[in-house]
Amino acid sequence: MSFVFATCRPGLERWVRSDVAREYPDHRAAFARPGMVTFKSESDVTPEFRIASPFARVSGASLGAAKTVEDVLAARDRVGATRVHVFVREPAKNREHDVFGPAEAARTALGLDPDNERAVIGDLVLDVIVAPDQPFWLGVHRHERARSPFAGGRIPIVEPAEIPSRAYRKMAEGLAWSGAHVLPGQTVLEFGSSPGGSALALLERGAFVVGVDTEPLKPAVFAYGERFKLIPKAMTTLERSDLPPGVAWLVMDVGVAPQVALHGFRRFFPPYRKSLKGVLLTLKLNDDLVVADIPNLLERVRSLGLSEVRATHLPSNRRELFVFGRS
Ligand SMILES: C[S@@+](CC[C@H](N)C(=O)[O-])C[C@H]1O[C@@H](n2cnc3c(N)ncnc32)[C@H](O)[C@@H]1O
Repeated sequence: MSFVFATCRPGLERWVRSDVAREYPDHRAAFARPGMVTFKSESDVTPEFRIASPFARVSGASLGAAKTVEDVLAARDRVGATRVHVFVREPAKNREHDVFGPAEAARTALGLDPDNERAVIGDLVLDVIVAPDQPFWLGVHRHERARSPFAGGRIPIVEPAEIPSRAYRKMAEGLAWSGAHVLPGQTVLEFGSSPGGSALALLERGAFVVGVDTEPLKPAVFAYGERFKLIPKAMTTLERSDLPPGVAWLVMDVGVAPQVALHGFRRFFPPYRKSLKGVLLTLKLNDDLVVADIPNLLERVRSLGLSEVRATHLPSNRRELFVFGRS
């Protein structure tokens, strides 16, 4: 095999390409469609190959197109796949975390058991990428710890019927992906809290949340009584006396250029040197220049004194990047 595939949020293919150009100079861009890019490699590609890009959700060896369900099953047997993941290439608008949708029919036709989706370490996973009126596109990857065990890199979350904002999903997915243990009773200081989705996800986990925003929040967060408090200020105008004691988690999603946001964020480290467990950040990716600067931005986060910093493009992220840093 000499082709590589990666899936991503439709529209962000060029960000995967630019990471690949930087990391793997011997890869040449090949077939691509919205939500999927492939590359030709000079060397042999094995299912263990994982593209080092936060924007690549699933990646591995590309097997090419398959017209029928029988062709898919034949490919599964040929490569010896121990699991099959079926998912859509382009999720519906505002349902970007839902990788099944129109892929349900293919899942049924392939006789897949929905309870058997989760890959275990070592599984050889056949990725079946579905798009309306198109042949299936097939890839294969070996599941390991750094990969999502779920189809299309999805992160299953349980959400209430009404959420204040998409940020609920971003936080719930980010917590699941990072393994950050936000524990009941811990205090979270959140910059950019309105309209309250992420605060709600944190409150549901038992945290005390102090939100900082000049914009209003939805009633759902105030239903948690004393566990939610709003400081109606911009983070830049916060005074030392505004700061709650013993903050365990700093959260920031302020929708401004990440260089500016991180500059303002620095001053909240010294007060919480002893109590801080980690940070959960959403960095806004306004343009290609910011994307090219991601390695530097992550280095800046690391230099705040964090021992581990990881970034990913979550299923519910748009032109954003989720960053987890452990104290
Ligand atoms: C993407 S929204 C945040 C979403 C929110 N985390 C949620 O869960 O719904 C960005 C928010 O950042 C706020 N914001 C922008 N600059 C800010 C600043 N300097 N300090 C505090 N909040 C700020 C805006 O008012 C806006 O409500």
